[in-house]
Amino acid sequence: MKAVVTSSAKFLPESVLSNLDLEKILDTSDEWIQTRTGIRERRILKDPEKATAYLCTEVARQILDKRGISAGEIDLIIVATMSPDMLFPSTACLVQDNIKAVNAWAFDLSGACSGFLYALNTGAQFIATGTHKKVLVIGGEKMSALMDYSDRTTCVLFGDGAAGVLLEPGEDDSHGMLDARLYSDGSGRDNLCMPGGGSLRPTNHETVDRKLHYLQQDGRQVFKSAVVGMAEVADEIMQRNNLTAEDIDYLIPHQANNRIIQATAERMGLNLEKVAVNIDRYGNTSAATIPICIAELDEQGKLQSGSNLILVSFGAGYTWGGVYLKWL
Ligand code: UT7
Repeated sequence: MKAVVTSSAKFLPESVLSNLDLEKILDTSDEWIQTRTGIRERRILKDPEKATAYLCTEVARQILDKRGISAGEIDLIIVATMSPDMLFPSTACLVQDNIKAVNAWAFDLSGACSGFLYALNTGAQFIATGTHKKVLVIGGEKMSALMDYSDRTTCVLFGDGAAGVLLEPGEDDSHGMLDARLYSDGSGRDNLCMPGGGSLRPTNHETVDRKLHYLQQDGRQVFKSAVVGMAEVADEIMQRNNLTAEDIDYLIPHQANNRIIQATAERMGLNLEKVAVNIDRYGNTSAATIPICIAELDEQGKLQSGSNLILVSFGAGYTWGGVYLKWL
């Protein structure tokens, strides 16, 4: 039994942090950020009392409303995030309680920017086995909580947001999650990480003084691997499923850098009209980028029954992968 997406939703905090705002606090420029990344602005969740669980809860509520079902019908909630409210309990458990999904079990999945694709494929397995009927898969991030706003090499890149989908069994095997190829390579660990706050370097005065509680990235190294990883997995998904560029309705890529997105589209032979892009408005929202794109296309009525979608991502770990999703 294939898992199909029966509903989608997104939630972005209202507060906008533009490149022009960043120019005022950093040695950077709108021109540099737009040329190197494609980002114009990003959203920031300013309320210190709210975090990723809040963003994901808003998404879950919308999905339930749109689908016209009650929270009690949900069997499983998976939240993909690298910015959980706390190391434990999981953000998924907080969402489960917030919406009172009393019959659901819930867990977080740590796959960084590929988290949503990992979670989508994981959720789809529970549908495929027939043991679960309704699985909420959400990618949510409060990336602003991981940023050092004096480090221009990272803080200009990331933003906050969440989005997700509801997975249910399809009527036949022709639609839904048709293929997935997912990869990991932990040798990339030092190029994109948050070194402090885990069991290796628990938070203490020293870790804070050394700013180890902030995201650190060697942008150039990650860029090189991301360009290759995203393009190769997109190519692999196309070949495995005998898809040509004409067959594909939308490429939905992770939104880390417009240049990486364009290189992936080029490798697939796709023109840019078929590529979902929101990095200009939201920056890199990590695990949330791909479901935000899906929710936007869905809201705009651009997804028809049978639309062929290729989802590809690359992120910390390294983690990367591709999914072939045929819209219900
Ligand atoms: O989502 C998870 C996966 N992440 C990615 O896929 C991100 C991949 N990496 C990238 O997207 C790019 O590497 C960045 C956007 C992070 C950086 O772009 P780049 O073209 O690779 O720039 P760079 O790191 O090579 O830096 C070029 C110059 C440097 O100055 P020097 O050493 O040439 O004098 C940087 O100090 O740009 C400087 N720079 C900045 N200048 C103005 C770095 N950040 C900024 C900034 N404003 N915000």
